[in-house]
Amino acid sequence: METRIFGDKKIIIRKLTPSDVNQPEKFQKFVNSLIAEDAMILMNTKKTKKDELEWLKRRLKEVKQRKAVYLIAENNKEIVGTCNILLERERSNHIGGLGIAVKQGFRGIGLGKYLMENSIKMAKADLRPTPKIIELGVYEGNLPAIALYKKMGFKPVAKIPNSVQYKGKLIVKIIMQLEI
Ligand SMILES: CC(C)(COP(=O)(O)OP(=O)(O)OC[C@H]1O[C@@H](n2cnc3c(N)ncnc32)[C@H](O)[C@@H]1OP(=O)(O)O)[C@@H](O)C(=O)NCCC(=O)NCCS
Repeated sequence: METRIFGDKKIIIRKLTPSDVNQPEKFQKFVNSLIAEDAMILMNTKKTKKDELEWLKRRLKEVKQRKAVYLIAENNKEIVGTCNILLERERSNHIGGLGIAVKQGFRGIGLGKYLMENSIKMAKADLRPTPKIIELGVYEGNLPAIALYKKMGFKPVAKIPNSVQYKGKLIVKIIMQLEI
């Protein structure tokens, strides 16, 4: 766990821990804030406390099995960012799938980049087998995310048409990869 300043905000960066099952509300609030803003993420239905508890238990099991790493950013005990890398299975277990989100009001101050860099470091150290490629899917038009990923060295490798429903349209998902 470490405390860092981003912009004028004091942020604690920490790993997901088993005691997080005692505070599903924190995670619920974070994910529902992204859903309420219609962020360009997969989820678009509000989550209940029970949904979050089940989700947390699944994530903790993956972390324990060394199949996932999970970093959390908090400001005043509120979750303001998360980044996770989850290993794929069997013939694809050289690939870690990355997901990231930063809360509105905490963007553009370097937090997303920091979470990504450190999640990738953690993935190399903790995941078994050690991933060789980090992969993510980003929706066409998500310019801040695409700019961040390019800055991190990710390359677009595929485009999947009609992959995602967003604001009443079917949009393209771009697959990006980074060799690590
Ligand atoms: C994408 C996201 C994670 C970026 O996080 P962030 O903390 O704002 O990013 P950072 O402040 O670390 O920015 C890092 C780099 O990304 C790029 N970037 C970030 N915001 C940008 C914006 N609004 N426009 C253009 N580039 C941007 C810049 O290259 C920036 O580097 P710079 O500040 O040196 O120019 C954040 O916008 C977010 O959570 N969005 C909603 C959820 C989402 O879209 N998740 C990704 C799904 S694939």
